[in-house]
Amino acid sequence: MTTTIQRTAVLTGATSDRGIGITTARRYANEGWAVVILDLDGEKSAKVAAEIGSEFTVPAFGHEIDVASEDSVNAAYKAVAAEVSAGTLPAVGALANIAGITSPVAFLETTLELWNKVMAVNSTGTYLVTKAFLPGMIANGWGRIINMSSVSAQRGGGVFGKVPYSAAKAAILGFTKALAREIGSTGVTVNAITPGAVDTNIRVGSTEEQEAAINASIPVGRNATTEEIAAVITFLSSEDSAYLTGTTIDINGGSHMH
Ligand SMILES: NC(=O)c1ccc[n+]([C@@H]2O[C@H](COP(=O)([O-])OP(=O)(O)OC[C@H]3O[C@@H](n4cnc5c(N)ncnc54)[C@H](O)[C@@H]3O)[C@@H](O)[C@H]2O)c1
Repeated sequence: MTTTIQRTAVLTGATSDRGIGITTARRYANEGWAVVILDLDGEKSAKVAAEIGSEFTVPAFGHEIDVASEDSVNAAYKAVAAEVSAGTLPAVGALANIAGITSPVAFLETTLELWNKVMAVNSTGTYLVTKAFLPGMIANGWGRIINMSSVSAQRGGGVFGKVPYSAAKAAILGFTKALAREIGSTGVTVNAITPGAVDTNIRVGSTEEQEAAINASIPVGRNATTEEIAAVITFLSSEDSAYLTGTTIDINGGSHMH
């Protein structure tokens, strides 16, 4: 793509081979964004970034992050800020908080450790990464933050993730609305998406019966593709989406209507 590159999109959770994050990173790059890939494995993040950068001829940078750790988030932020200061990346314009883990454990079998981990990665991670990158966006007077919730937050699980996952993803909806309200006049929008079942590796370990039950509950009759989720994330990152903030966009094939 030959458009002038003006902004960087930062994505967490974007190295999983069949994941939503990597597809979204490719879509951003195809639209002319520079991309930053932040994921647990720093080497893989750098490799994925380099591949996307060379395929789409955009600046790209990868760095390790554990979104649940404040120190790790701050280190990743500093590494990205150094690239921006050096001029190797344009200013950060979009943040897609995609990193997440699920948990199919029945409520009475959950442990506090599991609860804390699912909350830490999904909701605290969204908080920490947003807090790191938001000041720069506010200073620039332009930004787009897209937070990954799930239909599980709205209908009470029922896809694969159970109580801790639904609770963590519901926290993201409240976070999104309250932050959107608080910073509405800054030029930075904050929105959430609530996908239903998406065809990725996140449900590794699900049974054929579980997958059949999931498909039977979807009017469209199939899982979403990662491209269908990426399309909404990049739209929410565009100039055209300036008047959408604090929204929750359902992408669920009709499996939950309200
Ligand atoms: N696949 C679905 O059906 C579905 C539906 C609704 C929402 N979601 C959400 O979409 C997001 C992406 O899911 P996916 O299906 O692509 O899953 P995935 O497992 O393929 O990808 C998740 C990514 O997050 C990364 N990650 C996990 N813990 C992390 C941490 N502590 N710090 C940084 N990165 C971490 C993983 O390394 C991986 O790259 C998740 O937040 C998930 O909850 C998925």
